[in-house]
Amino acid sequence: MRILLIHGPNLNMLGKRDPDIYGDHTLAQIVSLVAKRAQELGATVSSFQSNHEGALIDFIQAESPKASAIIINPGALTHYGYSLRDALADSMLPVIEVHLSDIHARESWRRKSVIKDVAIEQISGKGWKGYIEALEMLVNRAKEVR
Ligand code: DQA
Repeated sequence: MRILLIHGPNLNMLGKRDPDIYGDHTLAQIVSLVAKRAQELGATVSSFQSNHEGALIDFIQAESPKASAIIINPGALTHYGYSLRDALADSMLPVIEVHLSDIHARESWRRKSVIKDVAIEQISGKGWKGYIEALEMLVNRAKEVR
């Protein structure tokens, strides 16, 4: 099972960026933790980060035919990225939306997600462990669907 692990704008700055809100792990550390757990579960992870919505869409279009599921932290695109939302819907893959911080406990504009409706789950406020939860959920789901 190959899972796409996608990060949107500013998440390349994790580690330096507001550690009180986003934790002190870098993106590379998070990707490596998820890849390690994926290996234990017999899955593989292909990771991609971009600060550009179009680049995220290009990646989803190119890679989703060769993947089984998507874990995405869309960054601020969560709140207004309709083209990203459409690309995720068009992929026809199960998508889990992950946020490091609790988007429901911050500024009111962060509470709205345009991605939520095309995702099977939204995990928010659990830090990097939210990605592990998403991964385990997708692997278990694939076993049930099979
Ligand atoms: C975020 C929450 C978003 O509101 C914010 O713009 C981010 C990160 C999170 O992981 O908590 O860039 O998606």
